[in-house]
Amino acid sequence: MSMDISPVEKGAPVHFHNPAIEFFKAVGGEDGMRELMYNFYDKIYESDIAHFFPQDEDEFEAIKVKNTKFFIQICGGPKIYEEAAKGVELNEFMIRLHDDFSITEKSRIEWLGTMREALQELKGIDQKLIEDFWDYLENFSKLTVNTFADGSTYYAAFTQAKEDK
Ligand code: HEM
Repeated sequence: MSMDISPVEKGAPVHFHNPAIEFFKAVGGEDGMRELMYNFYDKIYESDIAHFFPQDEDEFEAIKVKNTKFFIQICGGPKIYEEAAKGVELNEFMIRLHDDFSITEKSRIEWLGTMREALQELKGIDQKLIEDFWDYLENFSKLTVNTFADGSTYYAAFTQAKEDK
């Protein structure tokens, strides 16, 4: 399965599309998405980017819950993250939320690599649907990178995000 990673280009437009609802259904709806995201976060805990996340168990649990809700909604499931986004469009809210962390290309690659491992453990799902979900993550994650190798910072403007319907 090709789950490649293309490099971030500072300030360049990022084309992405929200994942197909068929992925959400195939993964097993809300319960399946929770399982996938909890597995992902268990791996994050063991990864090189663990230090970005709360070390307190309850705080980490709260992140897992919110993260699961976001992915349920962005994949076309029930709108259960809406409230957390305080009326801001979901993807725009996500870009701004990550501004609080200094995210480099290296961290993005570690994040994606961890997600790839979790996706590879899914059983009995059409690879095309997994690739469609990956496509969203691979592209959208570029907008979370705000700290560059030359030490400069650049916070993606939402206008840089080109949502292809
Ligand atoms: C496709 C890309 C990504 C998506 C969709 C995404 C999504 C999310 C979501 C839904 C949350 C929880 C939001 C909430 O608190 O309500 C979150 C939190 C977070 N994400 Fe991401 N993320 C992405 C990429 C990354 C990357 C590349 C990093 C790199 C380190 C990262 C680091 C974090 C951190 C540190 C938090 C917050 C932990 C805290 O609040 O203490 N994310 N992300």
